[in-house]
Amino acid sequence: MKASIITILCLFILIGCTSEKPKEETTTPMATNSDWWKEGTLYQIYPQSFKDSDGDGFGDFRGIIEELDYLESLGITAVWMNPFFESPMVDNGYDVADYRAINPRYGTMADFEEMLNGMRDRGIKFVLDVVVNHSSDQHMWFQEARKSRDSQYRDYYHWWPAEKGEPPYRFSLFDPEGGWDYVEETDSYYLHTFAEQQPDLNWENPKLRQEVYDIMKFWAEKGVNGFRMDAFQFASKDITYPEFPEGYEKDFIKYHGLRPALHDYLKEMYKEVMEPYDVFAVAEGSGSTLQDAHDLVDADRKELQVAYHFEYVDMARTPAGYELSQFKKVFSKWDSAFAENGWVAIFLSNHDNARLVNRFGNPSPEFRTVSTQMLNTFLLSMRGTPYTYYGDELGMTNIDMPTIEEYVDIDAIGKYKSAMAKGEDMKEFMKVLNYSSRENARTPMQWDSTTNAGFTTGKPWKKVNPNYKELNVAAQDADPNSVLNHFRKMAHLRKGNLVLVYGAYDIILDDHEQIHAYTRIQGDEKLLVLLNFSDSDATANLPEGLMPGEILINNYASSPVDGDAVTLKPYQAVILKIN
Ligand code: NOJ
Repeated sequence: MKASIITILCLFILIGCTSEKPKEETTTPMATNSDWWKEGTLYQIYPQSFKDSDGDGFGDFRGIIEELDYLESLGITAVWMNPFFESPMVDNGYDVADYRAINPRYGTMADFEEMLNGMRDRGIKFVLDVVVNHSSDQHMWFQEARKSRDSQYRDYYHWWPAEKGEPPYRFSLFDPEGGWDYVEETDSYYLHTFAEQQPDLNWENPKLRQEVYDIMKFWAEKGVNGFRMDAFQFASKDITYPEFPEGYEKDFIKYHGLRPALHDYLKEMYKEVMEPYDVFAVAEGSGSTLQDAHDLVDADRKELQVAYHFEYVDMARTPAGYELSQFKKVFSKWDSAFAENGWVAIFLSNHDNARLVNRFGNPSPEFRTVSTQMLNTFLLSMRGTPYTYYGDELGMTNIDMPTIEEYVDIDAIGKYKSAMAKGEDMKEFMKVLNYSSRENARTPMQWDSTTNAGFTTGKPWKKVNPNYKELNVAAQDADPNSVLNHFRKMAHLRKGNLVLVYGAYDIILDDHEQIHAYTRIQGDEKLLVLLNFSDSDATANLPEGLMPGEILINNYASSPVDGDAVTLKPYQAVILKIN
C-alpha cells in the first residue's frame, strides 16, 4: 500500500499542530552567560545565492567576505549558513560527501576561516548546518558500506537484506518510489527518508554517533558557535521496521522518527559537544506536540536549546493564504507554552519556503514595502530568537516559474513526478508549485541595479528576479524609508531593549480581524506593538488604562494613536512605549 505522497507531505508539514491548551501565565525567563542565542538576531545565508566573487555564477565565501560590513550594518548578531561541504549537490549541499571538506565552489578552508574571523571581529556568531540524519551516497562510508555486508561501515546505515523479501513500506520525502532502494552488490535495500542519494545514517550505532561528535568538535574548534541539526527528528527510528497500521499518516513523524532514543542521542551530544565547547544547537522540527518540543529543548533536559517547529510556516503553503486569527493563535500558543522553560525560534521563511512577502504580506508594488516592514517588525518584536532569511530584509519576492522545465530542485521535481503519476490536474499543480516552491527563495541576492543584480559577473546558477532593477540593496540603502533601513532600525531596537527578548508577551484586541496588537513587558519596560495586517485602514480602541507614549518604530509618517483611538494605515507597523 503506497500512501498518497501529497497527503503525507501535508501531514508532515503540519507536524507541530497540536491541540494542547497553552498555559495562561507569562513570566520573564532570565538570561544566563551563554544565552547569546536568545538575545541574538539570526540571519540565514544561502551561500550559493548570496554573492559570487569569482564569476562562476555561484555564491562563495569570498563574496560573503566582501559583504561583511553589510552584515554588520544590518545589526544582526549571528549567521546561520546552509551547508557548504563537499557534496555532489543533488540536494544543494544537503547531501554531504565529506563533512570536513569545503565544496570548492565556495572556496577553501582558509577562505572559510577568514570569513569566520571577519564575522567574529564584527560581533557576529556563526551557526553551522549539520546534516547527519543522512549523508550523500558518495560519502566514503556509504561507498564502502554498499560493497560488502562485512564492511566496517555497514552499520553506519540502515539495511534490509533481500532474503527477507521486500522491506515494509517507508515514505521518502523526495522519492516517489518510496524510502528503500536496492543495492545489487550486497543484495539488500538501504533506507533513505529523503532522496535515494541521501542514505539515512544509523544513529543506533555508537561508532557512527562518535564520528558525528568528532565532526562537530572539528568545527567547534574552528570557532563556530552553534549547530542547526538538519532533519534530526528522523535520526531515531524503529529499526525492527514493523508494518505501519492503517492511518499512521496522521502521526507521520512518530512512525518515521522521533523515537525515545532520540533524547539519549541528544543528551550524549550535549555532553560531548554542546557543554564542553559552549555552543548551542537547534534542530529542524520539534515533534508533533508541545510536549515533544518541551522534551527536546527545556533547559533542564540538556538536549537542544531552541525549538524550531513548522507550525508557523505551515500556515501559508498555498495561494489560499492564511487567516490573521489563526496566525495570532499559533504564535500566542507557542509563546505561552515556552514562557517558563525552553525557547523558540521566531521565523516565517527559510530556504525551504517561498518568499516571506508573498506568503504573509502583499507583494504588489503598492504594498510590498510597507507589508514587509510590518512583517519584520513582527518577527523582531516577538519573544524568541528571530531568524531572518537573506533578502527578506529587502522584501525580495517570489520569481515567476510557470513551467516545470525551469525547476532544478529535487523536491519540486519529485512532487511533479508523483502528481503526474497520480493523474492530478497539472495546471493546478503548477499554479501551486509556482507560488510555493522553495526555488522562489533561492534566487540571487539583489545587490544593485547592474547586470545580474551585482550578484555575479558570470552566468548566475539561478535566474535573477527581474525586479532587481528597482528592488536592491543599493537603492534601499539610500532611502531612509526603505525595507532595509526599517529592518536595521528594528534590529538595533531589539539589541538595545531586552524587553523585546525576554519581556512577557500579551495579546490585546484578540478578535480584531485586521490588527495584531500585543504588549511586551519586563519590569518598568513596557512596549506596545500595533500591526495592521490588511491593505486598508484599520481602527480600534485600546484597552482602558493602556497609555501610549513615545513612538519608537513607525513605517508611516503619521502617528496612529489619538487618545485611546487607533487608526492604522495599510500594513502600518508601530512600536510605542507605554506610559
Ligand atoms: C531539510 C532542509 O532544510 C532541506 O533543505 C533539505 O532538502 C532536507 N532537510 C534534506 O536534508
